[in-house]
Amino acid sequence: SQQLIKKLEETIENFPDFPIPGIQFKDISPIFLDPKLYEEVIADLTAFSKGKVDAVCGIESRGYLFGIAIAVALEVPFILIRKKGKLPPPIISEQYDLEYGSAEIETREGQIKKGQRILIHDDLLATGGTTEAAAKLVEKQGATVSQFSFLIGLKDLKGEERLKKFGAEIYNILEY
Ligand code: PRP
Ligand code: MG
Repeated sequence: SQQLIKKLEETIENFPDFPIPGIQFKDISPIFLDPKLYEEVIADLTAFSKGKVDAVCGIESRGYLFGIAIAVALEVPFILIRKKGKLPPPIISEQYDLEYGSAEIETREGQIKKGQRILIHDDLLATGGTTEAAAKLVEKQGATVSQFSFLIGLKDLKGEERLKKFGAEIYNILEY
């Protein structure tokens, strides 16, 4: 709702040129100082996915902050998508390109089931590289990405373009 958007805009803190020049960092940590606001965020994100997904995948680490609460509210499993080297085998992994170099994300094999409709959740959609890799990871396991949700979408970086090919619904509460 407009009211939730306004409250979040007042709460999230902006830091120009952090961690490097040219990047405007949005610190979401003040949201967690306000349990009522946190509940409203979870209710909003849960309403988007209600009845539409069989499991939620959250992306380490900020994707966990809301992702687990969404999964619990939906009464569906939550699956951790982790950064490389944190999970014991057997794992499924997916590489993706960063501005400099590359990164890799992983899940435990077998936690995502064939045929499941999956919500991929993260706090922020920027270039979409991280989320795109997560979606490939889901599809590798024979499941379908039905939805993507984010707290924040950065429009100029065209992340949504990269996600179009998965044919899933995309939702973000805030857009910049
Ligand atoms: C940030 C953010 C998203 C990702 C978005 O995570 O939380 O996960 O970058 O960027 P992209 O759309 O360009 O891929 P980060 O890798 O900084 O790690 P963190 O969540 O552990 O803080
Ligand atoms: Mg992240």
